[in-house]
Amino acid sequence: MPEPLRVGVLASGRGSNFEALVKAVEAGRLEVTMALLVSDRPDAPALDIARAHRIDALCVDYKQFPSRETHEMAVVAALDERRVELVCQAGYMRILGAGYIERFRGRALNIHPSLLPAFPGLHAQRQALEHGVKVSGATVHFADEGVDTGPIVLQAAVLVLPGDTEETLSSRILAEEHRIYPEAVRLFAEGRLTIDGRKVHIRESP
Ligand code: GRF
Repeated sequence: MPEPLRVGVLASGRGSNFEALVKAVEAGRLEVTMALLVSDRPDAPALDIARAHRIDALCVDYKQFPSRETHEMAVVAALDERRVELVCQAGYMRILGAGYIERFRGRALNIHPSLLPAFPGLHAQRQALEHGVKVSGATVHFADEGVDTGPIVLQAAVLVLPGDTEETLSSRILAEEHRIYPEAVRLFAEGRLTIDGRKVHIRESP
């Protein structure tokens, strides 16, 4: 039996997507090893979630580094030290630069709360409401040099309802995020994803 894929997660805050991944592993729906959780902030609840589930939790505090590049190098070194093969960005609030992207190209996923390419960047749910779209959703995509621009793996649509607030829409989108992120990681772990330019082909289950 080959060793399960070693997954590292980057999270800056609440960590509910990280927790959804952990629960999928614990429930046997996702066969990977959660090798490391890295946060850039010492007060991130994601760190507590990792400790509660006995997952290696590391804070690489961005305030302790002189530049974005040196901080990012420390994060990459921590991932390499734990032999991480796939990185899941889950509410990681720092722009990741060329060093990281080159190291993990095709091996780093991100989750975003809109149907990309609509509403990249911050406050995607607020952007959707302000634009008046009737459908929004969630996207899992490979990370590239841009902000929320990489090849798309999975998407889930969520209806925008009359009277929705940022909170109500966010919470319905979040439920879909928690469903599709573990699914995307499972597809990657099973070797079923191929990147072809902007497109991600998903091979049928054997
Ligand atoms: C999620 O909405 C995710 O799509 C976005 O940031 C939020 C993180 O939430 N990138 P959580 O920390 O996973 O609860």
